Amino acid sequence: MRIEDCMADFQIPQHLHYMDSAATSLIPEPVIASMNEYDRQYRANVGRGMHRLTRVATQRYQEAHDSISSFIGGKEGTTVFTRNTTEAINMVAAGLEWQSGDRIVTTIVEHHSNLLPWLRLRQKGVEVVILQPGPDGIFDIETFDDAITAGTKLVAVSHVSNVLGTVQPVRKIAAICKERGAYFLIDGAQSVPHFPVNAPDTGCDFLCFSGHKMLGPTGTGVLWMRDAVISPFIIGGGTVDDVTTEGYTLTDGYQRFEGGTPNISGAIGLAQAGKYLESLEMDAIYRHEQKLTKRLLAGLAEIDNVTIYGPPEIKNRIGVVSFTIDKIHPHEIAYLLDERAAILVRSGDHCSIPLMRHLGLENGTVRASLYLYNTLEEIDLLLKTIEEIARTV
Ligand SMILES: Cc1ncc(COP(=O)(O)O)c(C=O)c1O
Repeated sequence: MRIEDCMADFQIPQHLHYMDSAATSLIPEPVIASMNEYDRQYRANVGRGMHRLTRVATQRYQEAHDSISSFIGGKEGTTVFTRNTTEAINMVAAGLEWQSGDRIVTTIVEHHSNLLPWLRLRQKGVEVVILQPGPDGIFDIETFDDAITAGTKLVAVSHVSNVLGTVQPVRKIAAICKERGAYFLIDGAQSVPHFPVNAPDTGCDFLCFSGHKMLGPTGTGVLWMRDAVISPFIIGGGTVDDVTTEGYTLTDGYQRFEGGTPNISGAIGLAQAGKYLESLEMDAIYRHEQKLTKRLLAGLAEIDNVTIYGPPEIKNRIGVVSFTIDKIHPHEIAYLLDERAAILVRSGDHCSIPLMRHLGLENGTVRASLYLYNTLEEIDLLLKTIEEIARTV
């Protein structure tokens, strides 16, 4: 299928221009259909029993894991379904053993979900080092090289910033982590939906991402682990091989980490979303978004009173574009874009308050975040409307 042909699959009212995909993406009809099919035709619990419906549901649920593992090239690791990226990161923070004096390295560009779980470990005496980027939000690899000492236990970095759109050099960071014996966690919430990410190739130990940002249903996410080294967050039904009154033996595989009845239709929908993206080809999606981003960056640079955050050029960034207009509150800009042109963008701190402080932005930014269903015509409309708003300053 070509990208241009997929627009009809997104049933959002056609007059709306959705540019808030970094928050959550739209969902195409085949994904909704796959979830409805489960609820209507073979709804049953999974891994619990022998009747025909539970056998079908269990098989589809297992296939959903296989399919998402293959989407990120991660068949040899363990692919666990979670509620979202936040839960996946918290599972690692809670599941590793921490001792006073352990060191974690992360950055100031992180979403709160990849910061708070580490900051909380300070209560256990863990040292958390927060790196600062250079201009435009780009990190020198030397910054990581200096900070990741031999005793560092874990490095946690977002592959793509949800504010600046910057792509971090994860392979180089992974090489340093490997050399120094540190675990490496990638927050892939903004990368996995937008370009091909092969989990083992990145060199990371943990890859976390959200299904709802990649055309899947809300309440779905993934934790991929190279080796299943963490203790499970919750245990109970489905996570054991044997139980006595004295104790229990945990089972292996993803089941060890998915206590209780999972979000079965969500998992099936997420797998369908992965297949949908693959049918369009991730490389083609990336090229499409780069084309739109290039036009957006060039257009914004021409408008007086507008400041872009992150690299002004297309290199090392994707279509998550933050900007401000002098003297107008970001929320007002977002409101006006909606009122005047039905353009839906996000405004505020984007769950990245430390980064906003670092940038000196008390009220945050306006963020347009693009996806495969956006068009050049929509970018032109966005630019025209921003120009009109900026002219009123
Ligand atoms: C980079 C990044 N990390 C983590 C998250 C948290 O994702 P979720 O709310 O799906 O857990 C987001 C959400 O915007 C994000 O952009």
